[in-house]
Amino acid sequence: MTTRVAVVTGGAGGLGRVIAATLLTDGFRVALLDRHGAPEAAGELGALGIDADVTDEQSVRAALDGVDERWGRVDALVNNAGVEPAHTLEDLDPTVWQGILDVNLAGPALMIKHCIPRFRRGRGGRVVSIGSRVWLGGGATAAYSAAKAGLVGLTRQAARELGPLGVTVNVVAPSFLRTPLNATKGDPAFVEGFARRFAAASPLSRLVEPLDVAAAVAFLVSDRARAITGETLHVTAGTHLAPYVA
Ligand SMILES: NC(=O)c1ccc[n+]([C@@H]2O[C@H](COP(=O)([O-])OP(=O)(O)OC[C@H]3O[C@@H](n4cnc5c(N)ncnc54)[C@H](O)[C@@H]3O)[C@@H](O)[C@H]2O)c1
Repeated sequence: MTTRVAVVTGGAGGLGRVIAATLLTDGFRVALLDRHGAPEAAGELGALGIDADVTDEQSVRAALDGVDERWGRVDALVNNAGVEPAHTLEDLDPTVWQGILDVNLAGPALMIKHCIPRFRRGRGGRVVSIGSRVWLGGGATAAYSAAKAGLVGLTRQAARELGPLGVTVNVVAPSFLRTPLNATKGDPAFVEGFARRFAAASPLSRLVEPLDVAAAVAFLVSDRARAITGETLHVTAGTHLAPYVA
């Protein structure tokens, strides 16, 4: 049987590493694309690491050519790269807005675009984009929430366009995770207070861990999920169900 190849963007980050490790365990060959630290992270995991910026089409093209050179195929794309710099609407800087939209929304669209010929060659494929619970509201920053909501629209459209190629396209929408993304949000006591309130608001009284998110991704890229497309799977320990204090 052919070994399937997965591409994970933002693969050197907190969640990306865990997704990559999970897919390796499931028998995929994995290429990590990241604008920081891809070769190092890949070396630790036994993956292929490629420096790439998902907002730059040339860089996306070169990275996927690199995957082709090594393995000649792409079977699954995990759009995981994301940024969430703090801002308020009142102080909105158009450059910050554009930067957030570029990484979180335009990046996944570019990655999908350049995977299409590979999926066509392989007669099928899987796309899973990492959204966020905040697309429903209750997020900290407007541009990030807007980008993650846009990702749901992109996914539903892509599911229709790529379905005839045998490609499923879905979103996994997590809630708060203890990763470097949140370490940039303030002092550790603030982040830990946030985490405590979040767990208290969960019907399951728990936080979500990167492994929980990776498990959902692993399911959606598997053959078992062949009939699921255009869907948004929340991995939030139930915090997307009701108003919560955060
Ligand atoms: N941490 C959370 O609480 C949380 C909650 C919900 C959703 N998410 C989503 O999970 C995903 C992973 O986030 P994380 O928590 O692991 O954060 P992280 O900061 O640890 O990792 C993000 C990775 O994306 C990479 N990246 C950023 N811009 C890039 C670009 N232009 N090109 C290539 N790589 C780029 C970074 O270098 C980093 O390695 C993101 O899409 C994020 O929005 C995170």
